[in-house]
Parts: sequence; structure tokens; C-alpha cells
Amino acid sequence: MQNITRRDFLKLFGVSAGALAITGLTGCGVAPFLEETAQPVRANSDFVPDVELQLTATDTQTSILPGQPTHVWKYDGAVLATRGDGTSLQTIPNSYLGPIIHAKRGQKIRIHLKNALGEPTIIHWHGLHVPPDMDGHPRYAIQPGQAYVYDFEIRNRAGTYWFHPHPHQRTGFQAYAGLAGLFLISDSEETEANLPSGEFDVPLVIQDRAFNAANELVYITNPMDQMMGFLGDRILVNGRPDFALNVATRAYRFRVLNGSNSRVYKLAWDDGTPLTVIATDGGLLEKPVRRNYVTLGPGERVELWTDFGNRRVGSELKLKSLAFSGAESGMMGGMMGGGMMGGGMMGSSNSALPNGAEFSILRVKVDREVKDNTPLPERLSTIQRYRLDDAINRQNPRAFGIGMQGMMTWTLNGRVFEMEGVANDEIVKLNTLEAWEFANQTNSMDQMVHPMHIHGVQFQVVERQIAPQFQTVWETVRAGYVDEGWKDTVALWPSERVKLLMRFEDFPGMFLYHCHNLEHEDQGLMRNYLIQA
Ligand code: C2O
Ligand code: CU
Ligand code: CU
Repeated sequence: MQNITRRDFLKLFGVSAGALAITGLTGCGVAPFLEETAQPVRANSDFVPDVELQLTATDTQTSILPGQPTHVWKYDGAVLATRGDGTSLQTIPNSYLGPIIHAKRGQKIRIHLKNALGEPTIIHWHGLHVPPDMDGHPRYAIQPGQAYVYDFEIRNRAGTYWFHPHPHQRTGFQAYAGLAGLFLISDSEETEANLPSGEFDVPLVIQDRAFNAANELVYITNPMDQMMGFLGDRILVNGRPDFALNVATRAYRFRVLNGSNSRVYKLAWDDGTPLTVIATDGGLLEKPVRRNYVTLGPGERVELWTDFGNRRVGSELKLKSLAFSGAESGMMGGMMGGGMMGGGMMGSSNSALPNGAEFSILRVKVDREVKDNTPLPERLSTIQRYRLDDAINRQNPRAFGIGMQGMMTWTLNGRVFEMEGVANDEIVKLNTLEAWEFANQTNSMDQMVHPMHIHGVQFQVVERQIAPQFQTVWETVRAGYVDEGWKDTVALWPSERVKLLMRFEDFPGMFLYHCHNLEHEDQGLMRNYLIQA
């Protein structure tokens, strides 16, 4: 371990600590709209949308805890125009979460983002395969009062995608303040699978938040939060605390998004019933898989098929996050535990609910009997399997090391984010299949989970490895990885190496890849890669 003195540590944080300390969300003046004259408006006259939506990023209040309402930021949605069926907005009642966008594969969609916040923002469609200027790169962030017009065709498979802000160094704050929503895509393959639908298709967005005595959200309160990632001590589901769901005696489709900034969940039923997983980030699996628990890093999604058909009316069940280790053993363990920093100097504000603690996420109550049920399909979809042998760089996978430079800077291959920067080893060719390997390069100082996310593609996980000294820690989560399907985000435990296969198709241009621990992303653990035509 490097020898750091308390003074060095303070010095490193001295410059930025002030800027990082944000307590609550103070009201920002709502900027008046400059109507559609505000640039950049990128409406394309050749593009004839099937549906036209508007999302306004705005500052509002909502009641979350008993007592005072809470200032939040929220996407307000509206359908401006629609031809035919298939796209709709579904509002989640009593929630800061944005509307759920329902769309069909093949549809052309136009979305107007209006920025009614007091600072720049931009939306990214997490998991969607869209052109680079529709992907919400921070260089397209719009100023208060401006609008941005997204035009894209839905090319993804049926699945659970989502959207959230992506402005430079403010993604963590804005998402935490409430800006996020689900983007659900359906297609004919999904229709054939005949999954539970309507009220039996339930979104479950899991997030953690911290509140002060006045019920306001509290974000980063010390430099450690920025370094490690922010953890709240209240678990919210769909924006609500103590979430309870009443169900009938039949099968449900639960769409679970880990929408937290940096918390990892180890999902399990409290009575030991295994989880039946039917989809991952990029949509339906080929067939259902069973897990005793599912490990879900920030940004990842999983769909669970859950049958309450054999349960008694009146019975209850809890979805929990089980205990695990390895997610924050480094900085905190090494530095705090080592006693170098002295008692509360860094103020470990989140010790109440560290990453890896066991807690309850939600309660399910069976409250009525129904006779109809839908069986679990044996086949869900077809997945084209990539083969490492077909990758143009099979001998020499593109390697990305996640590490720490100096004491405090997370890096990707020794680099941090540059708005327009692309290095030579970050240039790929359109219409090629590549192998990428991420390595969580850990020393005693920086043992953390990094959920790595790639824009523009869905990938397949073909191999994972971990250093022997982390094997024990890995065993606390490893059986919960679901690598059978398409992924856009993959969590790496300390020292873990993950090999991925992906094909770059349709859209040349610059896309991002980054850690989806949003505080890491905001600190620069993010880079561009360029798809060359
Ligand atoms: Cu969900 Cu670039 O992020
Ligand atoms: Cu993304
Ligand atoms: Cu990270």
C-alpha cells in the first residue's frame, strides 16, 4: 500500500472538496423557454416519425417520506402526436421517475427534450442502438431553456431499457435528483412468448437515496462519496419508500432496473425461492434460467418471471438484497480501517447501509385469487451467438484496464475523459466483430466494483476470471451473474477480468464507454471510442 499521510489526503481534496459538497437540491429558477428557436434543434425533415413525444426536465416537489415534500428533478412527459398504435407514455403515480416510454421495434420516434432546469442537460437512451448524435453524448448538452430533438428508429429487441441524463460531470447529480425513466420495447418475438402483460407486467426501479431532517435529498457530503460512489440509506422502489406490491395468485413479469448511482444489489426472495430470469439488459433470453440470487450492478436490468400461483391469499414475501463482500473493501477498509485517517475525518456518512449490507427491497402481498394464469414459456427468443473465433482481434482482444492514477483519479488505460478525445486504441471499424477485455486492476488502495457500460452496442460476455486472492469475495456474488443474454453493462469485482464480444453496426461515429458508478463516470472514468466507416 502506498504511504499516504493525512496531509496529502487533505491536499488532494482541498481543491475540489468545496465543489463536491452539495446538500439538498436547492430550487433552481425555472428558465423561460426560448421556444423551438433555441438551438440546437436537430429535427430532420426526411424523418417521418410514427410518434412524437416531449420530455421536459424540470424542478418540482413530490411527497416521498411522511411530512414535508421533497425537491426533485423530473422528466415530465407528453405525447405530442401519434400515428397508429404501439407507443405510449405510462406515468408512475407519486414518483419522481419519468414516464415509462412504451415503443415497438421498427417504430420511428421523435422526442423533444426541453431543459427547464437551471443547468445544462442531455438525455441518453441507455441500451438503445441509435446514431451518435441521438445518443446523448455530453457534447450535445443543451443550456437552460433550450430544446434538443431526437429522431431515431427503434432497432433494439424487446426488453427493458432506460433513459437518464448524461451532461459532463453532472450525470450522478441529475440522475440522483430524479431524472430517469424506463424505455420498454416490444416486438413480435416477445408477443409469441406470451408473457404476463398489462397489470401483471410490473416495473421495479430500485434506487437508494439519503434524506435530511427536512426530507430533502442529500447528495455528496464528503470527498469519499465522490471517490467511492454515493450510497443512500433509504431504498426506494419506483420512487417510493417501503414499497409494497399486492399481487394475485398468478405469474408476473417483473422488470428490475438498478437505477442507483453506485449500489449493487444481490436480489433474492426471503423464503429461498429461486429467481427465474427471463431477460437481461438487451432483452429476452433464449430460455428462462434459474438463480438462487441475482447480482445487479448500477445500470443493469433483469426481468424476473414470478409465479404466485401456489401461494395462499394473505401470504407475504420479501425481495431482499443479501449480504456480499468486495464492493467497498479498498479505500474504506484500507484507509479508514487502517486508522490512518483518524476517527470521522472523512465522515463515512453511509456506514448505515454500506454496499454489501443485507436489507429488504420490497414486500409482496398475495391479496386475491385468480383462476387464469400464463405458463412459463420454454423458449423466449433467439439469440445469435457470437464466437470468439470470429472476432477480428481474437488473438489480441482490445484491453482496457480500470485503475487509479496517483491517489484519487480513476482511469481507463491510464486516461480520463476528454470531451472530443479518442486515442488510437479506441478506434474500431464498422461491421466488425471485436473482443474487448476489461480488467479491474486493483491494488490495496482501490478495490471497488466497476460496472462497465458501452454505448451503441449490446455485447455478449464470453469469459470471466478473477485473481486467486479475490476468489472468496467473488464467490459471494458470482453465481448471481446472468451472462446468458445480451448485455450493455457488466459489473467487475476487484481484480476481475471480463471478455466481451460485440459487433459495430449501422452507425459510424463517436460513442462512450464508461463506469456506470455515476460518481466514477463524473470523475472521468469514461472515454470515447470511435466507430470508423
Ligand atoms: Cu446509462 Cu452512458 O449511461
Ligand atoms: Cu448507455
Ligand atoms: Cu467505477
